[in-house]
Amino acid sequence: MAESMKGLKRTCRCAEVTEEMIGSTVTLMGWTQKRRNLGSLIFVDLRDRSGLMQILFDETAVGSANFEKAGTIRSEYVLAVTGVVQKRGGAVNEKLRTGTMELLATNLRILSESDTPPFPIEEDSQTREEVRLKNRTLDLRRPDIQRNLMVKSRVAQLSRDFMAAEGFLEIETPMLGKSTPEGARDYLVPSRIYPGSFFALPQSPQLYKQLLMAAGYDRYFQLARCFRDEDLRADRQPEFTQMDMELSFVDVEDVLDVNERLLQHLWKEVLGVDVQIPFRRMKWIDAMNRYGSDKPDLRFGMELVDVSEIVKDSGFGVFANCVKEGGSVRGINVKGQADMPRKKIDALTDFVKGYGMKGLAYIQVKEDGTKCSFQKFVTEEEIQALTEAMGAEKGDLLLFGADRFKLVCETMGALRCELARRLDLIDPDRFEFLWVVEFPQFEWSEEEQRFQAMHHPFTMPMEEDLQYLAPDQDLSKIRAKAYDIVLNGTEIGGGSVRIHQADIQEKMFECLGFTKEQAQEQFSFLLNAFRYGVPPHAGLAYGLDRVVMLMLGLDSIRDVIAFPKVKDSSDLMTEAPGEVDAKQLEELGIEISQKSGESTES
Ligand code: AMO
Ligand code: AMP
Repeated sequence: MAESMKGLKRTCRCAEVTEEMIGSTVTLMGWTQKRRNLGSLIFVDLRDRSGLMQILFDETAVGSANFEKAGTIRSEYVLAVTGVVQKRGGAVNEKLRTGTMELLATNLRILSESDTPPFPIEEDSQTREEVRLKNRTLDLRRPDIQRNLMVKSRVAQLSRDFMAAEGFLEIETPMLGKSTPEGARDYLVPSRIYPGSFFALPQSPQLYKQLLMAAGYDRYFQLARCFRDEDLRADRQPEFTQMDMELSFVDVEDVLDVNERLLQHLWKEVLGVDVQIPFRRMKWIDAMNRYGSDKPDLRFGMELVDVSEIVKDSGFGVFANCVKEGGSVRGINVKGQADMPRKKIDALTDFVKGYGMKGLAYIQVKEDGTKCSFQKFVTEEEIQALTEAMGAEKGDLLLFGADRFKLVCETMGALRCELARRLDLIDPDRFEFLWVVEFPQFEWSEEEQRFQAMHHPFTMPMEEDLQYLAPDQDLSKIRAKAYDIVLNGTEIGGGSVRIHQADIQEKMFECLGFTKEQAQEQFSFLLNAFRYGVPPHAGLAYGLDRVVMLMLGLDSIRDVIAFPKVKDSSDLMTEAPGEVDAKQLEELGIEISQKSGESTES
């Protein structure tokens, strides 16, 4: 039977009991982790979000009625225990903060009973994630998830304090608004007042924050909920939080500076880690060339080497033809892996095939000579030139791929990361921050057969490239004043200097294939506001969830979000999305033409 806590007050959390409190009386409230019955003594580990405290029930101290009650306690019962803090009679538990102490109970109330939970509430749970997410309330009791969410709260608080001290104002922007172009699909909300019309949930506060700059707020900051209907990955959720900022009267350097100091501050306060600033910077083109990625992981080497020149006239058709057709041949040197068995090399070949590359060529630089998968097509000199270009020493394994520039870079870049994982080359305690700068302004869309903005249409091109900003020019030459902040191979944030000049913005829309009317229709509120005096401005947004995930060395963004969605963007716990009443649909003027599960073929 559940009792009330009338007349009782919790004095501290379980693991906030310290040795200085030995001899004093405290009242703790929490969940039962474990109960052990030793006949005349009953031990209970009591848990709350601070940790555990061992409770000792001894009949003489607690009284016979309470002792009998203690005998009925089971896992996850919620208790209020008053008692005296004392040194542990039994063995010290060094794993616990309170491991030298116990609470000798003088009073007990069972505040709530519990059914047997479907899985144990413990660190590093072995229970399938699907089961845990269905029962997320119980999962959220686990100490590792609690720690993650406490760190996230700390990061949010520290960021707020830091930004306020730097003169940023926290201003909210609407959730119900107009579509902003961040490149994903919108989540739409139907309007009841205007049937057939929709709000779009924000993919980011981008346009609003630019309007705030035009309105003179100077430095804006917000922890903003963002919504993107895109395919989920380990580091992506349809609903996530941005740490979003915008600054007036600044250029690239100002934005990078304040953000380096912010990240340095967060790492110091949360992890006690000293991060060196300024961070390294790398141009986008160099990142692609050297690491095959616009978010290179710099915790290990194995850079890509362009060997196209060396092999362009070789007898190995795969290489020579690729270069003739405008492609590229790239190698990586896997140090000390010359003896990698054939089976493992075949597995790597399968890996690159998954990316669309047709194969993988290799040279094993062994003690007793080199072994090359394309030996019969090339001369000794060519092999020599290749091993030299790759900086190979005895014992190294050289892997080569040939294909279109983009595909070969991305594939060999992915192979580089995969090898680092398989060969355990990554130091998990290292934090390698990197600014990737000078992104291309435009990106060719095969699907749409036109150029699209790589960041967004409000990003300012680099001054020296403005000359190419016209539909009849080679748009691929234009670099943007855009920057991404990359940590250990993950993009944790990105931003840019914005266009604040009407003529440049007009040209930008023209290059993106918008007519004047289309641009007006979609962005009139921004373009009109910009007619009345707009300061130069720039900004950046972090994915807060990603920042915390990387800070804690976690593999999944779901572990830093209290109620995450799963791969198909549904919520296993609430079973959202769900159907709604016919009446609600009617009010919204919506008719469903097809329900999920029904065939699309008809
Ligand atoms: P961008 O689209 O690069 O820029 O987003 C900024 C950061 O948000 C995080 N992020 C995500 N995190 C989790 N799940 C997602 N689906 C997801 N999508 C993005 C990433 C990313 O770096 N308005 C611009 C910023 C600006 O220009 O100021 C923007 O939204 O960490
Ligand atoms: P094939 O001509 O497909 O028989 O391939 C000959 C050899 O070249 C095989 O060892 C393949 O693994 C390798 N190979 C094929 N395509 C590529 C490629 N695009 N890049 C690197 N090696 C390749």
